[in-house]
Amino acid sequence: MAESRADLMRRLTADVRPGYSFPRDFYCSDAVFEADIEEVVGRKWIMAGHVGQLPNKGDFFVFKVGEEQIILIRENAATINAFYNVCRHRGSLVCSVTSGNAPKLVCPYHAWTFGLDGALLSARLMPEDFDKKANGLHPCHVREFYGFIFVNLTAGEPDDFDATFSDMAAILDYHGFADAKVAHRASYPTAANWKLVVENFLECYHCQPAHPEFCSMHPPEALVAVGAGPSSGPTEAVEKYRPILEAWEQRVAALGRPVGNIDDTPDSTHLRLVMQRTIREGYMSETKDGSPASTLMGKRTEWDGGRMHLGFGPMSHVVACNDFAILFQFTPRSAMMTDVDISWIVDGRAESPDVEKMVWAWDVTTVQDRQITEDNQAGIRSSRYTPGRFSDQERGVANFQAWYLNQFAHLQAG
Ligand code: FES
Ligand SMILES: [Fe+2]
Repeated sequence: MAESRADLMRRLTADVRPGYSFPRDFYCSDAVFEADIEEVVGRKWIMAGHVGQLPNKGDFFVFKVGEEQIILIRENAATINAFYNVCRHRGSLVCSVTSGNAPKLVCPYHAWTFGLDGALLSARLMPEDFDKKANGLHPCHVREFYGFIFVNLTAGEPDDFDATFSDMAAILDYHGFADAKVAHRASYPTAANWKLVVENFLECYHCQPAHPEFCSMHPPEALVAVGAGPSSGPTEAVEKYRPILEAWEQRVAALGRPVGNIDDTPDSTHLRLVMQRTIREGYMSETKDGSPASTLMGKRTEWDGGRMHLGFGPMSHVVACNDFAILFQFTPRSAMMTDVDISWIVDGRAESPDVEKMVWAWDVTTVQDRQITEDNQAGIRSSRYTPGRFSDQERGVANFQAWYLNQFAHLQAG
């Protein structure tokens, strides 16, 4: 008899050693990937994009997660809808391109036609008793929040969105994300399990050896202490950085910037984080020479020498400088393939952002991250891989792993 999902996860979890990387199957097995999609990825609110990608009625893009494809489409000024990209006739994809504008969604197979609200408008030569009303596109949970578009693939009731994210409202509002424009987008598909991509983003132990450009823009003591979140570094390093951070917080709070951080624990639903901190002395932005690439974002009136890393969850992150922000989407596609999509956004009033200057840091850094993460996956595939011990600067990875395992707890209880 095939092993049940509960038994599979129980067997694998028994081999997990806290403080060590996961055993091989967590990163390579198709059965674990299926479990991840069902029990973790498919139950979370995931950032699918930004409203700046859908300015006009009929604008759409397709967001792919595992085997699912979700069409995000603007119905009118107030509403963005989300539908599964599955025709209600015989199941063809309805959208075969990844983005565009359409007054209606016409299936390319037999031309069933759906409205921007998902309703089936026309279907040729159908029997008289065919009920068009019962054959609209399947909706997907969708929510807009300060310009970010979230989807949740669960078939049931998703985690309450407001209960999960409303304490981030003041910060998101200050940064002007709701009115921001998308200046540039780029994709870095990575041949690695999604957990390796996430784990890499949640530790800065690799920053110094792997990211010289990134490190050039930051105080080394900040990277060691909090380079990948409030509790990502050694406790002593956090203590050492604290007075610098507190002095900065005092200064920027006086400018009206909401200060403070968020550091969700492994028993939270989304493992969110907010880390606001200083960048390199004298730098205004995270660019090669520290000079701005665009105008101040949101409610700012002065350059404040800071930056923010905000995680809506392990798969959805935002890094915000004073003049632009970077959206990171880590989307699982198969056991050893993850989509990494990055959007650079600027203030809605910005007229001529210097895109090349803005993109420099995170383009070069993400190309490096893709390489190290793919190499990590390739090494883990070897028969000689064994879980290795974490450093004191990889607490974020340990936290993520504990959170991940918690997502399967309900299987064991049942
Ligand atoms: S499968 Fe879409 S119209 Fe036939
Ligand atoms: Fe990195």
